[in-house]
Amino acid sequence: MVLQYPTLMFGASVPFLLILIQVSTCTLEVTGYIGQDVTLPCTYDAQANGILSFCWGHGKVTQFKCNNMILSSYYGDVTFRESSRYQLLSQVTQGNVSLTILNAQRGDAGNYGCRVEIPGWFNDHKINIHLIMEEAGRKVLTRRTTAPQ
Ligand SMILES: *[C@@H]1O[C@H](CO)[C@@H](O)[C@H](O)[C@H]1NC(C)=O
Repeated sequence: MVLQYPTLMFGASVPFLLILIQVSTCTLEVTGYIGQDVTLPCTYDAQANGILSFCWGHGKVTQFKCNNMILSSYYGDVTFRESSRYQLLSQVTQGNVSLTILNAQRGDAGNYGCRVEIPGWFNDHKINIHLIMEEAGRKVLTRRTTAPQ
């Protein structure tokens, strides 16, 4: 990774700051349906900050990175994508860096974290999402019978 955080120089003030950071991280719950696409929301103020680097991880965000990275974008270019099922279908240039998982499956359930690298120390924008996967039920059955492969 290119990023190095000059945190160790902070000394005694670090634990205090870390407490503040943890309090400011929010967690959302999203429900997806097996076989359908599901979008995990993450947005930031691109008008104020411009196009920034961000990453998505499978697992909650840690203090300085995305856990178990599944996608990362470096100032507008996607530099890593674990699977083509992970897509950015929203208006990234307007700060909507929501992650869409195509053809979501039961195994996609779990925690995801979005981190947007807002310039400056200790102010990255972080969102944790808990994805719940459910059977699609009648909706999908109807589609299967009306649109055979
Ligand atoms: C971001 O894009 C998704 C669609 O991919 C949309 O559902 C969502 O409302 C958008 N969020 C904002 C804040 O515009």
